[in-house]
Amino acid sequence: INHQSEARGALIVLEGLDRSGKTSQSGRLLSNLAGLGYPVESWRFPDRDTAVGKMISSYLSNKSQLDDHTIHLLFSANRWEKRSLMEAKLKSGTSLIVDRYSYSGVAFSAAKGLDIEWCKAPEVGLLAPDLVVYLDIPPEKAAERGGYGGERYEQLEFQKNVARHYKMLSDASWKMIDACLPMEDVEKQLKEMVLDCVTSCQKGKPISQLWL
Ligand code: TMP
Repeated sequence: INHQSEARGALIVLEGLDRSGKTSQSGRLLSNLAGLGYPVESWRFPDRDTAVGKMISSYLSNKSQLDDHTIHLLFSANRWEKRSLMEAKLKSGTSLIVDRYSYSGVAFSAAKGLDIEWCKAPEVGLLAPDLVVYLDIPPEKAAERGGYGGERYEQLEFQKNVARHYKMLSDASWKMIDACLPMEDVEKQLKEMVLDCVTSCQKGKPISQLWL
């Protein structure tokens, strides 16, 4: 039996404030893993290409207004519409590097004042990440990085509040990296953490679900 072909992929999530470096680091991680011969794809949420994603995108660029609960549920729906594909990819052996996931969903909505348990409820039953890496940066430092792009949530006071909520969500599956380190150092730490995780998934760690 070729065990390699039966091994499942790992679900790796990158979280952090806006401008913490998630997007650059997902790109580097993708090339690092692919370079080592692992089947891997890079995903992101919100996925702005779907019908739901287009509504989210319009909201984020302030082209439309939505009630806080409504946009929360759209972000969640945007993950649900990708759930079965996500599961199929993992089962076929492809690892996924996902830039933002349910933790962004809860941290950003709870930072607006919505009840945290209410925010978590629609996420229950989505696939649980095998590893969540939080790129840790003080909100002030993030704000200094080339400025925010002007989307709805890119404001210092709000990001401080998001950071507080992220900390409340962190659990045993989380690892932190100091995102103020040089990019190469972040890249190296991230790669090591992820390779450990990919290996344990190959060895048969079961896929689990949020938020049990
Ligand atoms: P992006 O800049 O990574 O594309 O994310 C867009 C914004 O959407 C970012 O400020 C975080 C926010 N967000 C939520 O509020 N809820 C969610 O579920 C996700 C995935 C992102």
